[in-house]
Amino acid sequence: MKHISVAIDGPSGAGKSTLARRAAKALGFRYLDTGAIYRTVGLAARDAGADPDDPAAVTALLPGLDLAIAFDGDDVQHMYLGGRDVSGAIRENDISRWASRVSAIQGVRDFLLETQRRFARENDVVMDGRDIGTVVLPGADVKVFLTADPEDRAMRRYRELRELGQSVDYDSVLAQVLERDRIDTTRAAAPLRQAEDAVLLDTTGLAQEESLSRLLHIIRERLGTL
Ligand code: DC
Repeated sequence: MKHISVAIDGPSGAGKSTLARRAAKALGFRYLDTGAIYRTVGLAARDAGADPDDPAAVTALLPGLDLAIAFDGDDVQHMYLGGRDVSGAIRENDISRWASRVSAIQGVRDFLLETQRRFARENDVVMDGRDIGTVVLPGADVKVFLTADPEDRAMRRYRELRELGQSVDYDSVLAQVLERDRIDTTRAAAPLRQAEDAVLLDTTGLAQEESLSRLLHIIRERLGTL
């Protein structure tokens, strides 16, 4: 049976994960957060003391990585590294930088490609990331490019980190958002860009409910299930 796939790409902090997760739930699809997979590789590189800017050092770690994705009863995605649940550890602010750097390495992207494609072959899925509509699932049934102004995204990220109990200030979060945008859009390997056939959804100034309803409208319209 052919499964349905919805690809959601966009910069960090645009609300992709929350919206993609909620959209998947509303549609009865699985949600795959591909950023969590890159974060897990970033964590592994940090734990191994590898230089994240050295492609050879990072790719040398890949064959030995015991990385697994599992879903609990509520369909919440958990990432495992060496049998350890690292779902909390990969959300640390520091790991964002590691993930951004290791994800710029082509060998890392190639290594993770088949895992992501297999998931879409086996499930109706909403998958979010940076290159889902352009590289991972170019034939996705629906593609959405979800974005928001950097200030808006930084504020969301700042609130998220505060809720996690991390002490951060808004200006440095904004600087990090701009720096990650720069890295994600200018890297040679799968730079972040909107696929030609993706629908643009700008959530600047929108409440989450409004963003979700617009996202679901786009998806249902494209699937012909409105
Ligand atoms: O979505 P996120 O912030 O959790 O992603 C972490 C990093 O991984 C981010 O720097 C971009 C990168 N990433 C990527 O290159 N490709 C994806 N499909 C998903 C994330």
